[in-house]
Amino acid sequence: MSKIERVGVSLDRELLGQFDALIEKQGYANRSEAVRDLIRSRLDQEQLADPETDAVAGIFLVYDHHAANLSAKLTDLQHNHLLHIITSTHVHLDHHNCLEIIILKGKVREIQALADRMTSLKGVKLGRANIMTTGKELT
Ligand code: NI
Repeated sequence: MSKIERVGVSLDRELLGQFDALIEKQGYANRSEAVRDLIRSRLDQEQLADPETDAVAGIFLVYDHHAANLSAKLTDLQHNHLLHIITSTHVHLDHHNCLEIIILKGKVREIQALADRMTSLKGVKLGRANIMTTGKELT
């Protein structure tokens, strides 16, 4: 485990008040854990800016399962990226709409490319990728 260092930070009282209100709403036990999470989140963002970074992601797709060949196209894309796809889950939302969540691991650029291909298929109404690093560079 790395050594702990204590740091003091000068903050505008109003800004600190807003921060305290936010972290209380989120359920943080103290400022230190909230500040650590903020730093990790910013470092994660910085690492994700590099397309070669190893990452994990959930791709969320809402689509109309009546759209011609869409389910087959989504399945084909997944079969072609087997090395990266960890699992997928399908939920029938109503008579027309399905939610598919695809969990995968790979380089940021590979994940983004696959998410873009899936989202741009005709019949996909909503597509969103939630990408984060594997955490190995964060303490
Ligand atoms: Ni369905």
